Amino acid sequence: MAMDTIEELFEHELKDIYSAEHSLLEALDQMASESQEKDIKKAYQQHRKETQGQIKRLDKIFKSLGQSPEAETCPGIEGLIKEKKVFMREKPSPELLEFYNIGAAQKTERYEITAYESLIDMAGKLGLQDAVGLLEETLQEEEATLNKLKAIASEFDVEDEDEAEMEDEQDEQPV
Ligand SMILES: [Fe+2]
Ligand SMILES: [Fe+2]
Repeated sequence: MAMDTIEELFEHELKDIYSAEHSLLEALDQMASESQEKDIKKAYQQHRKETQGQIKRLDKIFKSLGQSPEAETCPGIEGLIKEKKVFMREKPSPELLEFYNIGAAQKTERYEITAYESLIDMAGKLGLQDAVGLLEETLQEEEATLNKLKAIASEFDVEDEDEAEMEDEQDEQPV
């Protein structure tokens, strides 16, 4: 039968984000292992821990709907993960990979933020106040993470190779 209720849509979107959060556990592990900066590594590890809590909140919502948690592959997040795989073919330097990851992580946070905002809207329309509360807690974590990543990105200094060479040449000049 065709889908025709907000409730069904809500459940569908819950399964989608449930799958996304599981994929992101792996992606955050991967980025933490690729990171060379202690603070950045820590940020990924901290958000991984939060992500586990977010999955638990989704478990609770499924339970409140009388459903067992189920994941439905999220092509949106899979696409972002694939984008990274394609980028790796460029063989980026560790420093550039670090900078790329900070940007990729921001893309996923924006995706999650929009997904959770929609879920909150649907849960509100369905009168599921407990679900609204749980989803809002997660939304706040995603927003805080995006802000942290933005700050990390703006402080991140990538040395341009040409500039570095020029500086080296200048250093070599006799005084
Ligand atoms: Fe998340
Ligand atoms: Fe997130």
